[in-house]
Amino acid sequence: MKFFIDTANTSQIKELVAYNIISGVTTNPSLMAKEGISGTKNCHQRYIDICKLVDGPVSAEVISTDCEGMLAEAYELAELHPNIVIKIPMIKEGIKAIYELNQKGIKTNCTLIFSTNQALLAAKAGATYVSPFIGRLDDINVDGMELIKSIRTVYDNYNFDTNILAASIRHEEHVIKCAEYGADYATVPYALLDKLFDHPLTTKGLDIFLADHAKLNP
Ligand code: G3P
Repeated sequence: MKFFIDTANTSQIKELVAYNIISGVTTNPSLMAKEGISGTKNCHQRYIDICKLVDGPVSAEVISTDCEGMLAEAYELAELHPNIVIKIPMIKEGIKAIYELNQKGIKTNCTLIFSTNQALLAAKAGATYVSPFIGRLDDINVDGMELIKSIRTVYDNYNFDTNILAASIRHEEHVIKCAEYGADYATVPYALLDKLFDHPLTTKGLDIFLADHAKLNP
């Protein structure tokens, strides 16, 4: 399973890219707003900046809700950098746009996936990635992990090429289950990725090793 970082913050990306564990970046309008980025020009500049930091796919989301508008945005975004992936919401017009973009060889990430049927439709349209939102299902007392398991089964049954990009990941157990259930990618916020390195017994164990070494090597 590959990791993407779910952020529009370039400092966070820069820091984690240095550990060679990040294969790409996902953004969305909420993450851009969190960074205080507004206006098409500034958004585009941020996507370019991110593409320079990471050698992998960078998802940039459209804000139009009609196919024509999504396509117009997508063509502009795709021109910014070869690694840009067009993030399209899972709505009827979005499915039309994904089909058109796939025909033109432009990669897409179908976002806001909450059911296996939606993932099936996105795969049929030719989406490169689907983003099932695990945490938001958990928020409404539906087990988000079951969605990953179900999409994996369906995609494997029919050999779909679409990649499962698990999103809205909130805690360590989500990451473990994504890997166990065969998500191709997990997009994880900075704070959670940072936590994955640690275990209290690692810290304690290293302290003991160093202390024992220091006793005989003052
Ligand atoms: O990639 C989607 C993600 O940013 C949504 O996460 O925590 O807002 O549900 P969250």
